[in-house]
Amino acid sequence: MTDAVTEELRRALGALDVEAVRRTYWEQNESVWLERWLPGPLVERLVADVERVRPTMHRNYIPKHKKGGSVSYYALIEQAPAIVALYRAPEFREFLSAVTGQTLLLCPDSDPHACALYFYTEPGDHIGFHYDTSYYRSARYTVLVGLVERSSSRLVCQLYKGVPGRPPVEVSLKTDPGTFILFNGDKLWHAITPLGAGEERVSLTMEFVVDPTMSPFKRFVSNMKDSIAYFGFRSVFGGRPAGKPALSR
Ligand SMILES: [Fe+2]
Repeated sequence: MTDAVTEELRRALGALDVEAVRRTYWEQNESVWLERWLPGPLVERLVADVERVRPTMHRNYIPKHKKGGSVSYYALIEQAPAIVALYRAPEFREFLSAVTGQTLLLCPDSDPHACALYFYTEPGDHIGFHYDTSYYRSARYTVLVGLVERSSSRLVCQLYKGVPGRPPVEVSLKTDPGTFILFNGDKLWHAITPLGAGEERVSLTMEFVVDPTMSPFKRFVSNMKDSIAYFGFRSVFGGRPAGKPALSR
């Protein structure tokens, strides 16, 4: 599985003008997107993983902030070989590092958020505007990949928010299968608009950091947030990989 994913990823990277992607990323205050970039055969493998882990989805609702389902990295490690192979592919990190100008590393296996699936399956599922704030000692970079898109939901982004002397620019992105979005979590203000009736949207999020360590207090806050807002207490505190202490990152 890893070899097939790597091969398809290499082909996609070979067809890409990385320098142009890097330029756009910096022109857009550290965000860039490539519509339907990942090739069909790779997307098919990722979607097969989506269907395999769907029964383990944990749904949650935080009034005025988010409603939807998610599957943590723990479940993906056990049941989603193509997704995990993409997240861990050294070629992928090399590309992301070239674009961001940072040497990017994986988050630890004990981070349920390192690589996760987000399911929007019921009317009104959404997430309000937020930054992908880092709990690590360094900045956090997010990669979002569209996998299932049968919805009117959009990823709405406000570029340049907080940049002095520069008015924000709002863009509305449809995350079609294979669409790739990369951004610095502290720079891009973003939301997912509510799902309509009879619609469905599934996206993959991968997190990369420069320094994968975290202070004990931030680790605790992050675990609590993941438990309440995303994966459930059992997943975050009880379903971690064997041998990993509950609060180890
Ligand atoms: Fe986000």
